[in-house]
Amino acid sequence: MSSMRSFFRGAWSSPVRLDGKTVIITGSNTGIGKETARDLAKRGARVILACRDLEKAEAARKELVEDSGNPDIVVKKLDLSDTKSVKEFAEVINTEEKQLNILINNAGIMMCPYLKTADGFEMQFGVNHLGHFLLTYLLLDLIKRSAPARIVNVASVAHTWGSIRLDDINSEKSYAPRRAYGQSKLANILSTRSLAKRLQGTGVTVYSLHPGVVRSELWRNLSKPIQIAVNIFSLFTKTTMQGAQTSIYCAVEHQLEGQSGGYYSGCAPARCSREASDDEMAQKLWELSCQMLGINWD
Ligand SMILES: NC(=O)c1ccc[n+]([C@@H]2O[C@H](COP(=O)([O-])OP(=O)(O)OC[C@H]3O[C@@H](n4cnc5c(N)ncnc54)[C@H](OP(=O)(O)O)[C@@H]3O)[C@@H](O)[C@H]2O)c1
Repeated sequence: MSSMRSFFRGAWSSPVRLDGKTVIITGSNTGIGKETARDLAKRGARVILACRDLEKAEAARKELVEDSGNPDIVVKKLDLSDTKSVKEFAEVINTEEKQLNILINNAGIMMCPYLKTADGFEMQFGVNHLGHFLLTYLLLDLIKRSAPARIVNVASVAHTWGSIRLDDINSEKSYAPRRAYGQSKLANILSTRSLAKRLQGTGVTVYSLHPGVVRSELWRNLSKPIQIAVNIFSLFTKTTMQGAQTSIYCAVEHQLEGQSGGYYSGCAPARCSREASDDEMAQKLWELSCQMLGINWD
């Protein structure tokens, strides 16, 4: 089913409307996030573009308002590589927004040189996992009050490239960009499982997904030949609009109501690696993430 859907890319569609609902999408000034925002805006949602670069985000906002005909698209500053920015963003949302029905943790960085976040976390783990983990924690009361509500974590098939290195989570002893990206995406899937368990009975459901191999700016840190190859082999890769479909599916598909914690690809349930289904590791990662962020989240 999933592979058939992948073959007929973009085949899934849904008439679901989101009038009166509020959505936050991180990293939505470009790529998959921007196309997800475009679709959900067309469905009538109030869309909050949570982005680190306000200039790029404002340009995206203008384009999306014009294209969707929905004026209720706003930009809010969020830099996931700095917990201070995550806390400030959450404070603004918790103060100004009456509800939050869909949170899409989409922003991501792939295979960058060794860098640390403002808090000293390895950049890919810090942005892709810890930044979103903290954001979700800080917005969770509002999300619960808005139930039925959904949290969508954009992971990747690249979760198979790494493992959770509990003894060197920040890759200080050794750094391999690909392995660190894999670790961060594995963390997205494991924390989705853990969160789903904790949210049982709240009306808030959680999903993780692989969007496909997508021609976006994600490849910016890779060598030019690889970037060119991604574009040349366009038959095997997706446009950002096609790449957004599984995020949109997880955000709106009626059939997913009541299901939580799963991993999706090609707008269908998908199989993740054995490591990504390891509940013991999921719990260890949860505890470590809380400890690193200095939060108490049981
Ligand atoms: N493209 C693929 O083939 C593929 C495959 C599997 C999974 N994914 C996942 O899909 C998601 C979206 O990626 P994409 O392909 O759309 O990549 P993209 O075009 O590079 O977009 C990534 C977005 O994340 C934002 N971002 C990066 N660091 C951030 C930070 N510190 N704080 C806030 N925002 C930040 C970027 O903002 P700036 O524009 O300011 O940098 C951009 O808006 C990612 O989670 C990625 O891991 C993509």
